[in-house]
Amino acid sequence: MRCECLILAAGLGKRMKSMLPKVLHPVGGRPLLAWALEACRGATGIEPALVVAPGMDEILRKAGLGKRFVVQKERLGTAHAVMQAADELRGQGDLLLVVNGDMPLLEAATLRRLIEAQEAHAGAFTLLTVHGDEARGFGRLQRDERGQVIAIVEEADATSEQLALREFNVGAYCFRSEWLWESLAKLEVSAQGEYYLTDLVALAVKEERSVATVEVADPDEAIGVNTREHLAQVEAVLRGRVNRKWMLAGVTLQDPATTYIGPQVEIGQDSVILSGTHLEGGTVIGAQCQLGPNTIVCASRIGDRCRVSASVLEEATLEDDVDVGPFAHLRKGAHLCRGVHMGNFGEVKNSIVGAGAKLGHFSYLGDATIGEGVNIGAGTITCNYDGERKFHTEIEEGAFIGSDTMLVAPVRIGRGARTGAGAVVTKDVPPWSVAVGIPARVIRKLKESDD
Ligand code: UD1
Ligand code: CA
Repeated sequence: MRCECLILAAGLGKRMKSMLPKVLHPVGGRPLLAWALEACRGATGIEPALVVAPGMDEILRKAGLGKRFVVQKERLGTAHAVMQAADELRGQGDLLLVVNGDMPLLEAATLRRLIEAQEAHAGAFTLLTVHGDEARGFGRLQRDERGQVIAIVEEADATSEQLALREFNVGAYCFRSEWLWESLAKLEVSAQGEYYLTDLVALAVKEERSVATVEVADPDEAIGVNTREHLAQVEAVLRGRVNRKWMLAGVTLQDPATTYIGPQVEIGQDSVILSGTHLEGGTVIGAQCQLGPNTIVCASRIGDRCRVSASVLEEATLEDDVDVGPFAHLRKGAHLCRGVHMGNFGEVKNSIVGAGAKLGHFSYLGDATIGEGVNIGAGTITCNYDGERKFHTEIEEGAFIGSDTMLVAPVRIGRGARTGAGAVVTKDVPPWSVAVGIPARVIRKLKESDD
């Protein structure tokens, strides 16, 4: 049977008390809506249509979230939202999967089970349910003495007796399409002034059509996001899922509760992630590394056997056996080759630091190329910016930069050269020579054998 798919995402998300639309709030490193889109694609194999508020279609398209949009001009409830998709979807499939866009933990396999249950069911539709202690504002399922579902009662309209019911409507339904499109128009407005999709249960029962249910296997999947408290609960579950995956794959997490690993991150075997560490974006980490504590790595590549402690890396590359921190900041385009040692309070941006080079303390390297085995003395700075433009610094293989050297770019330090402590280098220093002073001048030549 052909199954179409619709995600409801036009709600205002008022309970979030936010300027940002609810579906764009990040959770588990991605916007809320990205999770529902992925699960729906996985379950149906098609691109879901989205019901959105006016203006949101453009915003979501730009954010790469969804391709098929239907605009709901007024928020008149979940049934009204589905009705807006009639032109787009009516006559398109035998079944229609409808999923609330604020249920980021629902898995594709669960939605698949829902579709399969409806394929095997002659009745009007099948809906997903969960039993639990925490209602989180969910509609309550009412069943008759034979156990048949007879209605969903929304929290706002429920009696205290109904509020005590402990089976909830998750917010995912698989309808027989024809029945759905005929029935939506028959719904009446609720006491809250909304058209409830959930009223279709009572309507089907009145028409003597059966409504089936499928229960989610893991109650965590049914955590919907209406408030920021729910958002934090979802974050914790997503974090747990990702962390468990990496521990099973052979990565040690010292304290999973304070470890944040984004969904696109890759980590090699026997790496150890210490507490308070965030790994974000498309970060790739090799084997046998130790990262943390208190380290943030975003969109970076880290080779094997690296150590990074209490540092921040953004769009940086570390080759194998690199040692960074504590308190280092690697910014976009920082590339530390094999065996580099970068100690405390250093910053590197848009620079290649050659194999085995050392920058132990308090230095800034920007727009620089540093050769193999160079020693960068404490407090060295590449003065790469004159207020208007950025300039390049080159330090050739084996050079020794004295403490507190200012390298006023553009400038080149030749192979094996040395600068004295406190030198302000404004002109190129030839290979194998020693430059000192302000501005620095060459005072002596070195023999290459001094290397
Ligand atoms: C809804 C269900 C409730 C269920 C819960 C679980 C209804 C009436 N109630 O309640 O039974 O337990 O979800 O997820 O359906 N939306 C629109 N247009 C609207 C209103 C809502 O697109 O006019 C969208 C929202 O963006 C959201 C979804 O529909 O993604 C559900 O709306 P929401 O207001 O969150 O409903 P709940 O109160 O959570
Ligand atoms: Ca909701």
